[in-house]
Amino acid sequence: MKAAYIQQFGGPEVLQYGDLPDPSAGPGQIVVDTFAASVNGADWKVRAGSYGQARFPLILVLDFSGVVSALGAGVADLGIGEEVFGVLEAGRDGTYAEKIAVGASIVAKKPSALSHIDAAALALTGLTALYAVEDTLKLRSGETILIQGGAGGVAAFAIQLAKHLGARVITTASAANLAYVRDIGADEVIDYNTTDFRKVVNNCAAVFDTVGGDVALRSFAVLKPGGRAAFIASGAQPPKADRSDVTALRPAVGRDRAHLNRIVELYLAGAVRPPPVTLYSLSDAAEALRVSESRHLKGKLVLRVR
Ligand SMILES: NC(=O)c1ccc[n+]([C@@H]2O[C@H](COP(=O)([O-])OP(=O)(O)OC[C@H]3O[C@@H](n4cnc5c(N)ncnc54)[C@H](OP(=O)(O)O)[C@@H]3O)[C@@H](O)[C@H]2O)c1
Repeated sequence: MKAAYIQQFGGPEVLQYGDLPDPSAGPGQIVVDTFAASVNGADWKVRAGSYGQARFPLILVLDFSGVVSALGAGVADLGIGEEVFGVLEAGRDGTYAEKIAVGASIVAKKPSALSHIDAAALALTGLTALYAVEDTLKLRSGETILIQGGAGGVAAFAIQLAKHLGARVITTASAANLAYVRDIGADEVIDYNTTDFRKVVNNCAAVFDTVGGDVALRSFAVLKPGGRAAFIASGAQPPKADRSDVTALRPAVGRDRAHLNRIVELYLAGAVRPPPVTLYSLSDAAEALRVSESRHLKGKLVLRVR
């Protein structure tokens, strides 16, 4: 099969496109013929070696949409030819390939109304936003949330989810993306290049930070006493709060069919729409990751695999 993979960690130049052996389905696994895989903010960091040891060749990337082409022992709830989407097991990369083997219990059926490209675009972003906003922050109707980095993949899902839950949403973006984040539902938008959000936002019940660094540290200031903040771009632990009356949380983003089905439910209800997608071919994966690494994009980069 064709795949985009690395033989060593490094910059965009280490990504190769070529032939690797087809996977087979072990017990409880299925093989999926991949139609689309998306680019996530973590992928270039994996390529660069930020997440440590790996066995080479390492095929990059986590989420996928495709068609079941083989069943391992014990798989009874999916059939050959069914359309499925999902995210590989935590700690595993490998969807920039024409075929993947994955545990059947962590994939979900893709409705025909959702294209492979949009399903791949919503998989990891949707899981992450659901785990952060619903499971970790437990956002409630009537609360105000500041979502940092609104134009990114995870944050765009989170904005729509928070609105669906009945919250008031404030978000940050660069000037070029302000209309976009307003269009997907943000009630208040802040150009982070011209305005320090701490000067115009306060008394929030919750913060969801997808940017990290100094933005994460400054975010505690907008919380009201008892407020909670969730961080996904600050490493494995949340940053330490500089005040004692708020809670800093690090969502543990799992993989399971129930959360993927929740993505489908929100999509079919019209609560969440797929992000604007920029398409690349699998052979152009290196360029897609280069764009992702620039950290200023709107919506999602998706690879069309077949
Ligand atoms: N399991 C997990 O824990 C998990 C899962 C998924 C993602 N993540 C992490 O979450 C982060 C976001 O991922 P993603 O895939 O959503 O990223 P992405 O799609 O690459 O989004 C990057 C966005 O950040 C915005 N941005 C950059 N600097 C900003 C700033 N100072 N203030 C506000 N917005 C800013 C950019 O918008 P502008 O162009 O408008 O600046 C861009 O749209 C990454 O660090 C990723 O590693 C963690």
